[in-house]
Amino acid sequence: MSGETTSYDVLIIGSGVAGLSLALRLPKSIRIALLSKGALLEGSSLYAQGGIAAVLDDGDSIDAHVQDTLVAGAGLSDPAVARFVAERAAENIRWLIGMGVAFSTAADGNGTETLHLTREGGHSHRRIVHAADATGEAVETTLADLVRRRGNVEILEYHAAIDLITASRLGRTPERCLGVYALDRDSGRVRTLAARHVVLATGGASKVYLYTSNPDSATGDGIAMAWRAGCRVANMEFNQFHPTCLYHPEAKSFLISEAVRGEGGLLLLPDGRRFMPDFDPRAELAPRDIVARAIDHEMKRLGIDHVLLDISHRPAEFIVSHFPTIYRRCLELGFDMTREPLPVVPAAHYTCGGVLTDLHGCTDLAGLYAIGEVACTGLHGANRLASNSLLECLVFAQSAAAYIVAQGSAPPLSTTLPPWDESRVTDSDEQVVVSHNWEELRRFMWDYVGIVRTNKRLQRAKRRIDLLQNEIQEYYGNFRITCDLLELRNLATVAELIIDSALARRESRGLHYTLDHPERDPALDGKPTILVPRARVPGSPSPGPGDCSG
Ligand code: FAD
Ligand code: SIN
Repeated sequence: MSGETTSYDVLIIGSGVAGLSLALRLPKSIRIALLSKGALLEGSSLYAQGGIAAVLDDGDSIDAHVQDTLVAGAGLSDPAVARFVAERAAENIRWLIGMGVAFSTAADGNGTETLHLTREGGHSHRRIVHAADATGEAVETTLADLVRRRGNVEILEYHAAIDLITASRLGRTPERCLGVYALDRDSGRVRTLAARHVVLATGGASKVYLYTSNPDSATGDGIAMAWRAGCRVANMEFNQFHPTCLYHPEAKSFLISEAVRGEGGLLLLPDGRRFMPDFDPRAELAPRDIVARAIDHEMKRLGIDHVLLDISHRPAEFIVSHFPTIYRRCLELGFDMTREPLPVVPAAHYTCGGVLTDLHGCTDLAGLYAIGEVACTGLHGANRLASNSLLECLVFAQSAAAYIVAQGSAPPLSTTLPPWDESRVTDSDEQVVVSHNWEELRRFMWDYVGIVRTNKRLQRAKRRIDLLQNEIQEYYGNFRITCDLLELRNLATVAELIIDSALARRESRGLHYTLDHPERDPALDGKPTILVPRARVPGSPSPGPGDCSG
């Protein structure tokens, strides 16, 4: 047994754009803990390139943004949620500017500097606010600097949340979230953290695939923890594969932003022929599912290991000033994008599904919220529109903060929770088992549950995950917890949720494409895949989460 309970008003698990904005949106009178399982800045947010979607041009409209979101979402986005988000986009951009984020500007017709709006696939207008091609870095570093100066926020870096502490697990009623056990990675100690409001801002789960644009932190921890605590998850079959990651052994799936296509980049076969017009009238600017599938189709048809992305027809100064990060990184790897096309392949990029929430980020479990990529709010449906993710992080941080504040100063919860029990476990002498299982899981997910699926491949994946789950549970029960082990356990849970959701959806829609049911079934319009855990939160409402104040 180890550790005492440390209590806060709000516990935010994750320090990406969702977690940081929430910390800044909450009043300075509230005592907050902000957990990050690595360094404060590390997470997908830091690497975001293209930008943030917002209606800021006179020729554009909220209706058009909503419509584009719904079209990309392929009949599964919730129109009310899409409107809720689109309507709050401009004010969130203004909020970021007020915080000090320096977005790219350009002179308008009258010579006045205004925000430069770029374009990405699926958007009918120029609507993407950006900081050159490193938007995430500009937002994340600015917000993190501000949070570091907030006296009411205790930053706990290298603290990995292991599991949520719920009343029912302690034999108490009513059911609610009471806190979290977190591994202090420096000391190896498991800490007990209590809070009235616990917010999952843990990002997505794209590390479940062998090839991904995401950093190592994207292991779906929040989704797995919420699932184990009895919350429903939705739409896990919809994994977004970004069409264009650099194909290079050292690049670790470095992203080539969709804005490159937005600014005129063309997709080519090795013989220099464009192929996207054969697949969709929007060609290179079709939604991502269509472009990624077309690339996959051409690669398989021709037996090639990549296609080409060419923007070298644009002036070199334009390319270097709009895409300085991508230009530099490609040059380091031997490609001069001002002169030659880049080799690109699709890679897992975004988890559209996640923990089911309402418009305040409330989950099924009282006291537990989910915001950012970990959540399934209804915005993305079967496919996320480019640059709607950072926007969703901002809008839901704003609404969750307002909701938490509206609860007022509630009496403190019990401040003594039982410590983590380590009395029955020993140190593992077989760490290699963990790394082998990681590798195996990510490979079969890529091979069998990737861009194109079949029943047979999914069944095969199901058998593999069942075996792995048994092995991991046994390992988990016997050995001292490490970050690798808890991530493996979470990845296995998420993989199972993805496979089960994919098996349940007997049609092709958005990012879920199966050769056994290649058509979209209109009867399934507006019908998300909702998985209900065996340990369902007692009395939680159906079909959507409700009041989470507890
Ligand atoms: P993240 O930024 O991923 O942060 C997750 C946080 O949770 C991290 O701090 C991590 O340490 C922490 N965490 C995770 N598990 C635990 C745990 N167990 N315990 C403690 N802490 C934990 N979207 C756009 O809208 N526009 C773009 O231009 C764009 N470009 C992208 C480019 C790349 C290369 C990538 C990978 C993604 C891009 N996206 C983009 C998607 C977008 O960046 C992410 O969806 C978004 O940043 C997610 O933010 P988040 O705050 O939810 O999570
Ligand atoms: C990109 O820059 O292509 C990524 C944008 C996104 O994921 O929304």
